[in-house]
Amino acid sequence: MPRVCKCPQPQPVEQLQNFRLLLCVDIRQRLFYPVAMFNLDEELKALKKARLHRRLPSVEARTGTHIRIKGRDLLLMASNDYLGLSQHPHLISRAAQAAAQWGAGSAAARLISGSCTLFDELEKRLAHFKQTQAALLFSTGYMANLGLLSALAGPDDIIFSDELNHASIIDGCRLSRAKVSVYSHVNMAALAARLRRAGRFRRRIIVTDALFSMDGDIAPLPRLLELARSHDAVLIVDDAHGTGVLGPQGRGTIAHFGLEDPDRLIIMGTLGKALGCFGAFVAGSRVLIDYLVNRARTFIFTTAMPPSNAAAALAAVDIVEQDAGLRERLQENTAFLHRELRSLGFDLGSSRTQIIPIMAGEARKALAMADHLMEQGIFLLAIRPPTVPANAARLRLTVTALHTRQELERVVAALKKTGRKHGLI
Ligand SMILES: Cc1ncc(COP(=O)(O)O)c(C=O)c1O
Repeated sequence: MPRVCKCPQPQPVEQLQNFRLLLCVDIRQRLFYPVAMFNLDEELKALKKARLHRRLPSVEARTGTHIRIKGRDLLLMASNDYLGLSQHPHLISRAAQAAAQWGAGSAAARLISGSCTLFDELEKRLAHFKQTQAALLFSTGYMANLGLLSALAGPDDIIFSDELNHASIIDGCRLSRAKVSVYSHVNMAALAARLRRAGRFRRRIIVTDALFSMDGDIAPLPRLLELARSHDAVLIVDDAHGTGVLGPQGRGTIAHFGLEDPDRLIIMGTLGKALGCFGAFVAGSRVLIDYLVNRARTFIFTTAMPPSNAAAALAAVDIVEQDAGLRERLQENTAFLHRELRSLGFDLGSSRTQIIPIMAGEARKALAMADHLMEQGIFLLAIRPPTVPANAARLRLTVTALHTRQELERVVAALKKTGRKHGLI
C-alpha cells in the first residue's frame, strides 16, 4: 500500500498490480483483521473463565407461573410480571382487537407518520394514573431514561446519581455529557454533601431508581425531594418496579409516599413489568412533555410501539386501578417469602419488596446455586457483575401475585437445600 501512495502516476501494468494489492489488503482487513484485532473470542474466553459468560435459555412455553425449557416444566421465580397481567385475558383481547384494527406495527416514528389515537389515549390515562399534567410514551424504559437525561442535561449541568441506579440511567448520564456525581447507595448525608460542594451549574438533577431493581429496597424519596428543593434541583424518579405495585391503586412509589411537586418531580415508569406489556413513559408537567417531544432523541428517532401494545396497556391500567386484590396477594406472597427465607438465615440485603436478592457473593457460587435450583425444577437466574458490583453476585428471586402458597413452600424447601449445600445458611 505505501508503494501505491508514493507513485504519483502509475503505469497501466503497475496500476493493475496496485489495484490487486489494494483489493487484497482491503479484503484481508475486512474479513480477518477486525476479528483478530478485537480479540472477541479471547474476551469471551475470559468471561467464561471468570464465570461471567451469559447464555439465553430458550423458553418453549409460558403459562401462569410456569415455563418450559428443553421440555422441562419449571416454576418461574424470575419474572417482573408482578401482577401476572401479561397473560390476563382482558389485555390479550384488547391487544388482539387493536391489532385487527391498526395492524401489527406502527410503521414509523410518531413525528413522521402521526400519532395513533391509542397512544394519545394511553398518555392521558398514564398522566391521570401518575397524577401529573402529561405523559409521553417511549418504546422501552431504557430508551426513556436515555432520552430524558440526554434531553435535559448537557455539559453545563450536573447529575447526582445513586451508585446502584439501573444501567439505563448510567448510560443516560453518560450520553448527556453532564458532570456526573455518584453518591453511595441511598446515603442522603453523602448526597447532601455533594450537593453543597458542587460548584455552579446551569441545571442540577438528582436521579434515582424508586425501587432498586437488583436489591428490592426503596429510595428515601421524601428526603430526596427535600434535598432537591433546598438545592434547586429537579428529581427524576425511575419507578420501573414500583408502578402498579406500590401506593394507592398501584400508582407507584411517589404516591406511596404521598409526594407531589409538579415543578421538581419527573417520573419514569415502565409498561413491561407490573403492567404486563412493553414500553415505558415519562410523566410530568405539560412543558416538560412538550420539550421531550422536541428534544428526546430516543423518542424522535425511533418507531413507535405497536398500537396493540398501547391497547393492552390501557387495559392494564384499568385493572391495576380497580383490582386491589392482585396487589394484596402480591404483598402476602412477598411477606411470606421474606419471613421464611430470613428465618432460615438467608441474607436478603435491605429488600422490603417483591424483588428478593439472595446474596451469594462470588459469581461461581451464585451460578452453582441457580443450577442446583434448576435441578429441583425452579428457574431463577444468578445475577453477576457487571449487573451488580464485584463479589455481590446473587440470586434475584421475584415473586408475583399468581404464585400459590404451595409453590412458594416448594421454593423455600428447595432454597433450604441449596443454601445448606453452598454454605449460605
Ligand atoms: C430500574 C429500571 N429502569 C429501567 C429499566 C428499563 O426498562 P425496559 O425493560 O422497559 O427497557 C429497567 C429494566 O429492567 C429497570 O429495572
